Amino acid sequence: MAKVTIINDRISFEVPANSKVIDYLPDNSSMLFGCRQGSCGMCICTVRSGEEFLVPISSREEETLRKNNAASSQRLACQLWTREIEKEGEIEIEY
Ligand code: FES
Repeated sequence: MAKVTIINDRISFEVPANSKVIDYLPDNSSMLFGCRQGSCGMCICTVRSGEEFLVPISSREEETLRKNNAASSQRLACQLWTREIEKEGEIEIEY
């Protein structure tokens, strides 16, 4: 289980291991999404901490980030999956 905090929204929520983070995003988040499939780049965000609790970036995500001139530290929120982890992880995301 990971505790995910969306810094801009000041909300935190729990995400089980091996799960897509946005499937657990509360309705009161203002984070914007388009395709939700990693191709439009609308959901570019920065993982401020806890990257080690997330599945590494895929080549498809990397390509979309490159097309959108994202910084090397940025990710696509719609492509964030939690890893299988033994301890409680904390992940902070800013968009
Ligand atoms: S919503 Fe389109 S890339 Fe995430």
